[in-house]
Amino acid sequence: MRKYAYRAVIFDLDGVLTDTAHYHYLAWKKLADSVGASFDAAFNEQLKGVDRMGSLNLILQASGKEFSEADKLALAHRKNLDYQDLISALSPADLLPGAAAALQSIRAAGLKTALASVSKNAQAVIERLGIADQFEFVVDAANIRNSKPDPEIFLAAAAGLGLQVQDCFGVEDSIAGIRAIKSAGMFALGVGSPAVLTEADVVIAGLDQFSLPDYLKE
Ligand code: BG6
Ligand code: MG
Repeated sequence: MRKYAYRAVIFDLDGVLTDTAHYHYLAWKKLADSVGASFDAAFNEQLKGVDRMGSLNLILQASGKEFSEADKLALAHRKNLDYQDLISALSPADLLPGAAAALQSIRAAGLKTALASVSKNAQAVIERLGIADQFEFVVDAANIRNSKPDPEIFLAAAAGLGLQVQDCFGVEDSIAGIRAIKSAGMFALGVGSPAVLTEADVVIAGLDQFSLPDYLKE
């Protein structure tokens, strides 16, 4: 008889463990302004968890203008350079409150952790935050073909840990991410506002509210 209902916790990165979601927002806002697309916080919620080209396409659609493939690649590259500038000085001080304690409590309880971020900058971010050694498995975003809300990345994380989906639960700050977790057949812990993350099983305001025993039904 297993002691706990779960064996692993699969984390999103941007907006969950660190506030890089804000830096993505700033970089996308700059790009949206440059192409004349209106862009606000509500629109940004639709971009969270969506990969770079998917996000770009949503912004360009909102601009109502046509762009060639070459233009799109150049715009995506420029956004990424702006984003990389913004994250260049990240350090362990940029972990969100409760993030380090949550990772430690999970590992102390004997559960595994994995990272499921669609960001191609994720490895650099976790290294700067000093948490790269806190995950048994980090999904390589370059190998993921379908961005959230597709369940692919959470299924890849469970497989990378050598576990079944029912052994894992996911932690996400985005609407697309919560959908991906639920489509993968996992329990979804939302981090943010219950009014936004309506499809999550449970929502907490931040990882400083994370209490592992609450999610470990025996
Ligand atoms: C996700 C973010 O984690 O990564 C999105 O929520 C971002 O906002 C996506 O667009 C892709 O990131 P990157 O770093 O590969 O452009
Ligand atoms: Mg996120």
